[in-house]
This record gives sequence, structure tokens and C-alpha cells, in this order.
Amino acid sequence: MVAKGKIVWVSGPAVKADGMSTAKMYETVEVGESKLIGEVIRLTGDIAFIQVYESTSGLRPGEPVVGTGQPLSVLLGPGIIGKIYDGIQRPLDEIASKSGAFIGRGVITTPVDFKKKYKFKPSVKKGDEIGPGSILGTVEETPLLTHSILVPPNHPGATKLTDVASEGDYNIDHIVATAEKSGEKIQLKMYHKWPVRKPRPYGERYDPTVPLVTGQRIIDTYFPIAKGGTGAIPGGFGTGKTVTLHQIAKWADSKVVVYIGCGERGNEMTEVLVEFPHLIDPRSGRPLMERTVLVANTSNMPVAAREASIYTGATLAEYYRDMGFDVVLVADSTSRWAEALREMSGRLEEMPAEEGYPSYLASRLAEFYERAGRVKALGSPNRSGSVTLIGAVSPSGADFTEPVTTHTIRFIKTFWALDTRLAYSRHYPSINWMQSYSGYLEDVSKWWKENVTGEWFDLRQESYQLLQKEDTLKEIVRLLGPEALPDEEKLVLELARMIKIGILQQNSFDKVDTYCSPQKQVKMVKLMLKFYKEAQKALKVGTPLADIRAMPIIPSLLKAKFEIPEEQLGKLDDLDRQIDEQFHKQAEAPPMQRSA
Ligand SMILES: Nc1ncnc2c1ncn2[C@@H]1O[C@H](COP(=O)(O)OP(=O)(O)OP(=O)(O)O)[C@@H](O)[C@H]1O
Ligand SMILES: [Mg+2]
Repeated sequence: MVAKGKIVWVSGPAVKADGMSTAKMYETVEVGESKLIGEVIRLTGDIAFIQVYESTSGLRPGEPVVGTGQPLSVLLGPGIIGKIYDGIQRPLDEIASKSGAFIGRGVITTPVDFKKKYKFKPSVKKGDEIGPGSILGTVEETPLLTHSILVPPNHPGATKLTDVASEGDYNIDHIVATAEKSGEKIQLKMYHKWPVRKPRPYGERYDPTVPLVTGQRIIDTYFPIAKGGTGAIPGGFGTGKTVTLHQIAKWADSKVVVYIGCGERGNEMTEVLVEFPHLIDPRSGRPLMERTVLVANTSNMPVAAREASIYTGATLAEYYRDMGFDVVLVADSTSRWAEALREMSGRLEEMPAEEGYPSYLASRLAEFYERAGRVKALGSPNRSGSVTLIGAVSPSGADFTEPVTTHTIRFIKTFWALDTRLAYSRHYPSINWMQSYSGYLEDVSKWWKENVTGEWFDLRQESYQLLQKEDTLKEIVRLLGPEALPDEEKLVLELARMIKIGILQQNSFDKVDTYCSPQKQVKMVKLMLKFYKEAQKALKVGTPLADIRAMPIIPSLLKAKFEIPEEQLGKLDDLDRQIDEQFHKQAEAPPMQRSA
């Protein structure tokens, strides 16, 4: 029975209604005369607490609240890619055109264009057996993406197809296949709906052994994230969260990008709504939007929609995963989402936990990050896909001990800690190599061995140890000055400097440096370590450190990242030879010519 109640109380986006005993948790309801969209988020007796996704100004006690019997759901089908949605999948361009610059209330929109025709190519035929998640055929959703039409995951088991549409142009409402189960006909369209708070089912979960290659050296080589993995990038104001997430969106070897922008300040939203649609997919030269969905929340949108946005985004990501794609979902920033949660909780007069956040902040974060994974999809044919989840966190004052950061850390495996001091000194990406970590290092080392080189893991460890050593030596230098160190240790400092400048620093805006292939990453690290070993040997036979520091190979090594493009990686082998030559020359020079 559909719940029919009456509003008794309104506070911002929160509404209480009585007479709601038949409503269900998370059911969507129509609130007030203008039928605003709301969701039941707490039930006590016949009182429902509702969060409303639209502005509630003017809403009064006594107005009706009517249940829909449905949980908050998204529509999944062709037409999603390239769209900009709000947190409950209303297309922002359409909302704006229907109600002016601001989002009007009770505006009815459809998430995708029902009139648009797509060329459907069936991949099944009459008599075939299908099941939940099976692929019925494909349509070209955008020039960059072939969309598989999926049987809904809640389809009732294995069924025989009694009818399949022939190849042709149809709108997404068209019945493209009909199945039969115990005499009952089930019509399958090009789309289905799925509740956002319920993870989409899959066949089986795989270990996170394949890295998401981002082309960013400090990520891929030092703190990798796996496909289907989780990562967080916390950082204070202006430290590089958005630039890093954009780099991942552009360069990562994932097919689909789901970008959730939760912004408070104006400029944060401009980044998403204005800049993002202009980004170019570097590999195809086409708009990145042809393989991207944006979910955007601006500060003039109700907080409840922001709360829903990460579930909406996760569901969209899982849908493309189920087609067999690698999907990367980035949320910028989850702190703004958590603030929405805090505001709702405050309105509902719940008992606050740390810093006013509700006690369920941690479990909500867990629910979100648990939706990452690399999986075998349901249904036939066999295929696997992944959802990688990456959340920016913007703790005020860059204080990583605040609740959103500390709880996030519990549920993610890769942590890229942005450092305000590094950003000030223009060391970009300002990912602090001592505070960051990756729980996927060993998992992905087999992939590197099979696809790039078996040396990757050791090269990574050896070069990282130099950075660690530098970190301890720095303390001595700070207290006693650099002269207190023996030459071997001064050499460690020199190497750490070279690794920082030549490898860790990477300029997103440089034509060549913006992307670094795994092959180039490995070669560059190898050159640094080769230089180190030769320099150690030279020191041992009495070469002054000053001579080593003055070797012309050093600037060449530091500039390789932007002077040697991907098509000319052979030039890195030239550098390798130059290291040999230059050390050879050093060794042959008569002692009095040594040192300036
Ligand atoms: N990898 C990089 N290469 C070059 N410049 C960078 C890089 N990362 C960050 N920057 C510089 O830092 C600036 C700030 O970065 P960004 O906007 O990503 O910070 P943010 O952490 O998202 O800030 P906010 O807190 O305002 O959201 C950029 O405009 C850019 O100039
Ligand atoms: Mg930002």
C-alpha cells in the first residue's frame, strides 16, 4: 500500500511527515503540492524523516507526502555518457533550460533522451538462453564507446528468448528482446533502473593484481593503485587534488570516467562544469566527455542531492563495469559530501559524533569504497570489468587527523598525501613520498614483470630507500650542517635530489612530461640507480664528490623527463652509455686535474 502522509515539520532540506507507517526506508516520496523529490531516511512509528532533493522554501505543514514504492534509482542505458547530472541523475543542462539559470522545483526531466535513436546490433537470437546481466547487443553510444545492452541483474534466472529485434535504429524505450519464464513474457528494453544504494551484483571478485596505469611516475612507480582498488588524495587548499584527478581521468588506462564534483566554493565548480567538458582525450584527440559522465553539485543545490551523488556515481560506474569496461570514479571532494551528511544529520537533530559529523560517517564511507572491485560480470558472454574509486579529501587547515580523512584511511589502500610545503615550493605533484603509501605494491609487481620488466619492484625499492635515507640524514644536516656528513652520505643527498627533480616532480602542463609510460618510468629510475652505483665506485677510488656533482650527465638525467618523448625512448640508452663514458673519463684523468 502506498504511504500517504502529511508534512508536520520543515527544516531546510529535512522534512518530517506523519501517517507514513507503510513507507519503507529509502523509499522515494513526493513531497508537497509541487511534488518535490524526497527520500525516507529514518522511520519512527508513523513518522518519516525525509531528505528533499530540491529547495523546500514555501513548503508548509499540512501539505501531502506520497510514497512511490520505489527506492532512489538511476536509469541505466545508452545516453548517459557525456551527460552532466546532479546527484539524483537530473541532467543539469536540461534543468537549466527548463527553469532558467537556477534549478526550479518539481521540474520533471528524463536522465537520457528517449527520442534519440541508436543503431542496435543484436548479439543474441531467438531461442538463446540468457540470464541476469547477459548482453543482448550493442549500440554506439559515442564515437569512443560501444555500449552493451544488458539484461537487468534482477532478471529472474535463466530464460529463453522468444523474440529479438533485428538490427536497426530504435529509441531506448523499444523492446529489443522478449524472454519467457514459466509462460510469462518478460520484455527487455535498452535500459533498466537500479537503486543507487544497492551495489550491483557480479559473478566473482578478482584480486587487484592489475595496476591502473596513470602515466604519473610517483603514482605508478611509487604508490600504485590497482584496477578495482581504492585510493584517497587528501590535501589542503590548492595543493593539487583537482589537477591530479584530472590527470588520472585523462591518462589512466580505463575506458570510462565517472567524475563526481562536490564543490562549495565557486571556483571548485567552475573546474567541473566549465573546464572538464573542454578536456581532450589525449589518445583519441576527441572530447574526453565522449567517455565521461559528470555528476556535479553546486552550492546552490540542496545538500541532500550532494549526499546522494556518490551513490549515483558508484551505480553508473558499476553499470559500465558490467559491460566489461575498466571504470575510474573520482570524487572531488568527499569532504564536501561529508559536510552534506553532517548538515542533514544536524537538521534531523541526531546525536553528533566527532566534529559534528554523524556517528555513521565511517559506515557510509565504507559503503562507498566497498563498491570498488575488479569482477567477473554476470551473464554471458564472459567478461570482466573494474571500478576504481579515488576520493579527494579537503581537510581544513590540511589537518589529516580530522574525521573524514581518518575514517577514509580505514577503507582505502592507496594514500597520496598532498603536502602544502611541497606545493609552496612548486614541487608538483606535491605528493609527500614519506607519508604516502600503497597496499598494492606486491599485488601489481607480477603485472610489471609480465608487461614491462621484472626489475620494477627492486628498482622501486632501491630508489625509495635512497629517499628514506635522505629523510633521516636531513635531520643531521639540519642540526650540524651538511659538512658533518661523510661523502657517501652526501652522495645519498645528491641522489635524492636527482630523484625528486628528475622523477618525482612531473609537470602536468608540459607536452611531454604530462604522461610517462611504464617503460619510460622504469628506464629513468634505472639510469638514476646506475649513476648512483658508478658514483659510489668513483668515490671509493678517490674521485672528489665535487667532480661527480659537476658531471654533465646530471642535467641530462634531470631533463630526460621532458626532453625525451615516448617515441624516442632509445635516447635513454644513449644516456646509459654516457654514464659509462663520463665515469670512465673521470677514472682516467690524472689526479691533479681532478677537482676544481
Ligand atoms: N602536477 C602538476 N603540475 C603542474 N602544476 C600543478 C600540478 N599539480 C598542481 N599544480 C598547480 O597547483 C595549482 C592548484 O592545484 P589544484 O587546483 O589541483 O589544487 P586543489 O587541491 O584542487 O585546490 P582546491 O583546494 O582549491 O580544490 C594548479 O592550478 C597548478 O598550477
Ligand atoms: Mg580542487
